[in-house]
Amino acid sequence: MTGEVLAPVLQEGDEEVEQSLRPRRLLDFVGQERTKEQLEIALEAARARGDALDHVLLVGPPGLGKTTLATIIREELGVGLRTVAGPALERKGDMAAILTGLEERGVLFIDEIHRLNRAIEEILYPALEDFRLDIVVGQGAGARTLTLDLPSFTLVGATTRTGLLTTPLRDRFGMTFRLGYYEFGELAAIVRRSARILEVEVDDGAADEIAQRARGTPRVANRILRRVRDVAEVRHSGAVTLEVAREALELLEVDDVGLERTDRELLTTIAHKFSGGPVGLSTIAVSLGEEPDTIEDVYEPYLLQLGFLQRTPRGRVITALGREHIGAPEARDGLF
Ligand SMILES: Nc1ncnc2c1ncn2[C@@H]1O[C@H](COP(=O)(O)OP(=O)(O)OP(=O)(O)O)[C@@H](O)[C@H]1O
Ligand SMILES: [Mg+2]
Repeated sequence: MTGEVLAPVLQEGDEEVEQSLRPRRLLDFVGQERTKEQLEIALEAARARGDALDHVLLVGPPGLGKTTLATIIREELGVGLRTVAGPALERKGDMAAILTGLEERGVLFIDEIHRLNRAIEEILYPALEDFRLDIVVGQGAGARTLTLDLPSFTLVGATTRTGLLTTPLRDRFGMTFRLGYYEFGELAAIVRRSARILEVEVDDGAADEIAQRARGTPRVANRILRRVRDVAEVRHSGAVTLEVAREALELLEVDDVGLERTDRELLTTIAHKFSGGPVGLSTIAVSLGEEPDTIEDVYEPYLLQLGFLQRTPRGRVITALGREHIGAPEARDGLF
């Protein structure tokens, strides 16, 4: 298990396990109560009218349930789902083919929708508004625009940050749901649910311990559970007790608030190399050997949530709480 990253970025082999642990109905989806409530009403209204559901934008850090909600929406509507990754769509023709192939009231899920290229995005505008596709045939003076009617459909878009979306695209979503980090009790419920599905015996103390260290993220909770199960099976009798959970978390270098090595490195880099900041994102990225986007999407949101880090116009700053956590108190005049 050395070298494994627990951070909520998708890793190889995740898809299969995630499929099996993914709640299929809204009722099984733990937490995010307001989102669930609003979605429930919208789903019921769309079903009653026999219309396609309004387009839905899901926003939030990795591993909080965006893909899960997209699949739940399709399941609740009882329609087909077509999934595509924004960056994978390269030609206008690809988008046109996908749109014309949708079933009536079906769901099109575009993951990482902020990474669609502009030409493809423009095809989407009339498609989203009027279920219409405008195709230009021919060139120069002989060029004509053909208009094709599309089936009515629901676009579900997922993105880590709304700020990355263009305004015209953002405006075409009827509903936007922002997923926030999960509460401790919700994560404990997710751990217990996953343990039942994976048929692992997990006692309450262990489920709580995993929940406590899952950085508010269901994907991380499930990932820790799987690693803890390995330790329980290889070194112990297979049952996950609090002691076994703690031993595994120690091995994984996950600390008491759920930070991993990279999170701590980020904090110590700012504290020691850059005197606490402010320091620019790209400088931190170079220093850690990570992509700026990964730092911004994966590591920073939780550090901000914990109050360990601050974003200022001049760069990132470590807070007193952050310093306390890594044991690097601020050197103040006259004190040191
Ligand atoms: N509310 C929830 N209740 C129970 N399990 C959940 C919930 N949300 C997410 N999960 C679990 O966490 C895993 C990750 O969720 P999901 O793939 O939907 O995240 P995501 O937001 O799409 O992440 P990414 O941004 O990386 O695509 C799922 O496989 C599912 O098992
Ligand atoms: Mg996803």
